[in-house]
Amino acid sequence: MRRSLLLFINRIIFLFLDRPPAPVNVSVMHLRADSATVSWEVPEGDIIIGFSISQQRMDGKMQRFIKEVNTTSRSCVLWDLEEETDYIIQVQSIGLYGESQASKRVHFRTLKKTDRFPSNSLDKARHLQTGEMIIIVVVLLMWAAVIALFCRQYDIIKDNDSSNSKEKVKPSSERTTPEHHSGGLLQSKVGHL
Ligand SMILES: *[C@@H]1O[C@H](CO)[C@@H](O)[C@H](O)[C@H]1NC(C)=O
Ligand SMILES: *[C@@H]1O[C@H](CO)[C@@H](O)[C@H](O)[C@H]1NC(C)=O
Repeated sequence: MRRSLLLFINRIIFLFLDRPPAPVNVSVMHLRADSATVSWEVPEGDIIIGFSISQQRMDGKMQRFIKEVNTTSRSCVLWDLEEETDYIIQVQSIGLYGESQASKRVHFRTLKKTDRFPSNSLDKARHLQTGEMIIIVVVLLMWAAVIALFCRQYDIIKDNDSSNSKEKVKPSSERTTPEHHSGGLLQSKVGHL
């Protein structure tokens, strides 16, 4: 009588503290250089309120645990992975009274970064930089040319002015000065270009 009561209590405790079964069909999708998506399935019959994932580098250098409760999600994105690196993951279900056993270990290897989009955009940025540099250099050269031309013309105008003021002493030659002026300008332009 006493023994059967004990068995009964034992059974009740066992029922309530029963751990859910381990997740099955663990797989890795959307594999990239720095991220991957883990998905799994849960055998029916138990109330599952969350999951926890252990992510481990194969060389043992890093281990990370991801735990989420109050979710019915059966997948999870792993971020910040390193390229061309081997990882091992295991998933556990979280039930009302504890976590399940860990699933089977699943191995995957991240891709190389060059296959991916960010490195392409980096290359683009580098091209853009060279393009910008060329534009800047061209603009600077044009400015230098404009300034050089201006200086030469200014010198000519100044020369003309000084010759004008000299020639003012002789009013007879003043009429020929404008022709001389434009001729000098034209000559300097042609000579420069
Ligand atoms: C696991 O995958 C197998 C084969 O695709 C399938 O028959 C089974 O139902 C899956 N398990 C669960 C719990 O969905
Ligand atoms: C869990 O989810 C339920 C329903 O979505 C929500 O009402 C509740 O606040 C959540 N609890 C926690 C701790 O997030």
